[in-house]
Amino acid sequence: MIDVHAHVLPFVDDGSPDVASSLSMLRDMKASGVTDLFLTPHYYPARGYYRTAADNQTVFNEFVQAAEGIGVTLRLGNEIYYTIDSLRDLRKGTVLPLGDSKCVLIEFSMAKEEEDIAEAIHNIRSIGYTPIIAHPERYPYLGKVADFEIIQKMGGLIQLNASSLTGKYGTTIQKFCFQVLKLGLVDFVASDIHTFRHNDLAEAYEAVVKRIGVETADRVFANPVVLR
Ligand SMILES: [Fe+2]
Repeated sequence: MIDVHAHVLPFVDDGSPDVASSLSMLRDMKASGVTDLFLTPHYYPARGYYRTAADNQTVFNEFVQAAEGIGVTLRLGNEIYYTIDSLRDLRKGTVLPLGDSKCVLIEFSMAKEEEDIAEAIHNIRSIGYTPIIAHPERYPYLGKVADFEIIQKMGGLIQLNASSLTGKYGTTIQKFCFQVLKLGLVDFVASDIHTFRHNDLAEAYEAVVKRIGVETADRVFANPVVLR
């Protein structure tokens, strides 16, 4: 499996308070079948997460050494809370795409539509990146198939959380996720793991195999587009 969204890097956000917790999450990842993991610290200045790529890179380099031997390939990225400043931040390298790819993980407000998502996708593509929209199923203002179709038509990629598929956010979100998966509107399922959240990847993978099929499961749990 390839996990494109995880808060495993210690000290940098609300994901993990220490190296031991991070290594424990990483061993869990390995046991779930993850081979490639993107560490995606929050970049969300309004919430106090404004560590730059250079700061995170130092912690990342140390963590890679600590994690040697676990057998999961680590790459650095960000989960970027989108604002119009994100374009400047990407151009300047203050925030990072996923590893060496041109894919950028972006999130929006959980509560209300503060940014026009179609416009955000257009803007990010215009500077040469492909946006991956983090967990849109969790945004109450994006609950319709048509909303996902617009993201896809605009050239955005869609990432669901594994725990949405296992029902942790309720049955309405769970049903909707299986519906959009069947319709081919999903590009990734990721853990969005924090120390306070259970890793549902293995359970979610099995549920998708059972309810839709192994081909779809492999396509969204191991999408290689980010491995460049
Ligand atoms: Fe996240």
